[in-house]
Amino acid sequence: MVSFQPTLNQFIRARQQEYPEAVGDFSQVMNAIALAGKLISREINLAGIVDATGYTGRMNVQGEEVAKLDEWANELIVDLLGETGCVCVMGSEEVEGPISPPGSASMGRYAVLFDPVDGSSNIDIAAPVGTIFSAQRRVTESGTGHMDDLLQPGRNQAAAGYILYGSSTMFVYTTGNGVHAFTLDPTMGEFHLTTEDLKFPDKSNVYSTNEGNAGTWLEPDQRWVEWLKQNDPATGRPYSARYIGALVADFHRILLKGGIFAYPGNTAKREGKLRLLYECSPLAFVAEQAGGRATNGLRRILDIEPTGLHQRTPYYLGNASEVELVERFHSDG
Ligand code: AHG
Ligand code: MN
Ligand code: MN
Repeated sequence: MVSFQPTLNQFIRARQQEYPEAVGDFSQVMNAIALAGKLISREINLAGIVDATGYTGRMNVQGEEVAKLDEWANELIVDLLGETGCVCVMGSEEVEGPISPPGSASMGRYAVLFDPVDGSSNIDIAAPVGTIFSAQRRVTESGTGHMDDLLQPGRNQAAAGYILYGSSTMFVYTTGNGVHAFTLDPTMGEFHLTTEDLKFPDKSNVYSTNEGNAGTWLEPDQRWVEWLKQNDPATGRPYSARYIGALVADFHRILLKGGIFAYPGNTAKREGKLRLLYECSPLAFVAEQAGGRATNGLRRILDIEPTGLHQRTPYYLGNASEVELVERFHSDG
């Protein structure tokens, strides 16, 4: 038998037998996201040639400039998920309210949230960007999906993950049975399994945060980052700083090399910048499945009960020991 690493399709199908109730809907949702990832990867790798750099001139609901690729990727994902007939409602960083697939397609069993392009400001400089997704079963009985199907705590997620458009294109996801990583072979247009059941390495002394904001942070976060930078080799300090400015890329490095990512709140915006439902919760699910931890400084991200589609949260993510360290600075007040 010719040996090659299983494709994403083969892997999901093989694992589908673990879910007796599975009727293939989940596989269809994942395949739609994987196809979106392949097409976005191609668009990003040709960005300057296919006029995918630059901005639309519009602002999104977040009050942020919409990059051309944000808009293009959003429309692509909405269409590909909509046509599966397995999704009853969607939530996107780029769209203010719930998105209903057309007609009967909106009777599906899943509600899917996504950040079509995470780290958009990196597109024009050919630096890493990502796509983040989160799928959960609907809570409404039937018919067109509803905001209630989207506003579920992260612990309800059926699947979550991301696609990283970096030096290679990676598809990383979990369904609650470990974290699995695939690499795109662009010559074949297939994602092949590269790591099954990925776990954080033991702690490493790397921190990832936009320290330019430290002057606006609350006092516990300022004390935490100053502690990391003290010169004390016996405790592995000072830490090294790494920050790519795209959450997916910063997280992927931490997942493989260890460390902690932090986007704290500040005196003006206590909730910080990152969005709970389609940035923080999905990566928190992946992090916990890989043996790590994700909190808002006081509470587990996956236990936060959402009240709004675009609500933000302070965010600490990475090796459990590193996140617990930050929490001690917060609980010491
Ligand atoms: P998006 O491009 O989807 O708006 O996300 C950008 C986010 C996240 O990817 C990154 O960690 C963070 O913004 C960077 O924010 P700063 O530029 O304020 O550091
Ligand atoms: Mn984002
Ligand atoms: Mn985005």
